[in-house]
Amino acid sequence: MTSDSIDLAVIGGTGLYALAELRDVQSHQPDTRYGAPSGPVRVGTLDGRRVAFLARHGEGHSVPPHKVNYRANLAALQALGATRVLALNTVGGIGARFGPRVLACPDQLIDYTWGRISTLCEEPGTEVLHVDFGDPYTPALRRQLLEAAAKRGIDLVDGGVYGATQGPRLETKAEIARMRRDGCDLVGMTGMPEAGLARELGLEYACLAIVANWAAGAGPDPDEQITLEDVLANVAAASAGIPALVSAL
Ligand code: HPA
Repeated sequence: MTSDSIDLAVIGGTGLYALAELRDVQSHQPDTRYGAPSGPVRVGTLDGRRVAFLARHGEGHSVPPHKVNYRANLAALQALGATRVLALNTVGGIGARFGPRVLACPDQLIDYTWGRISTLCEEPGTEVLHVDFGDPYTPALRRQLLEAAAKRGIDLVDGGVYGATQGPRLETKAEIARMRRDGCDLVGMTGMPEAGLARELGLEYACLAIVANWAAGAGPDPDEQITLEDVLANVAAASAGIPALVSAL
């Protein structure tokens, strides 16, 4: 494999720690100037495409959202030759169109995270960048994702506002009510700073949000408790078509 032969890099979120359909897998443990990524990058073939996969929280889900080395993860994928990154993000649904098991391709985000390293420009001697981030997801890659879903007959909601929260706890009902007033449709803990860093690195980046649950108080039963079992079951059910989608991208 040459380092520039990767067609697509996929970052898996909660409940998605591997792409079982990858064939002829080689594992890489790249070290980057930002440190080590969350785990090995698995590079393999899916329907003739070279795909790199990295589990954002580590393959054993041991890295919490605020401790993920987002810079190292993206830099590792870039060092292996990736130019396009598909981020899989497990989320809660706020808007009525975003119930459990829905797949969505958001087009906007609001960042509520704090205290995370959110730029490459912290290294001594690095030129400060003020990257354009008006459209936080790469429009061309979003279009390709939507076309791939249509080609494979997979329902994918086009658009929505992703609200990135700090975690790892889930939100209060009041926090979700505020996010709804702010215009958020989805809530997750890992959308930022990843999207911003991808832009600074010059990577094409799009989000495939997998709705695992109604966010606190957002569903038909406002007192419903969110359980990890439900989250994982919904992610597993909603993710069934993802390999086909990835291979069509
Ligand atoms: N809130 C934040 N992140 C999430 C949720 C949620 O309800 N579900 C899955 N990831």
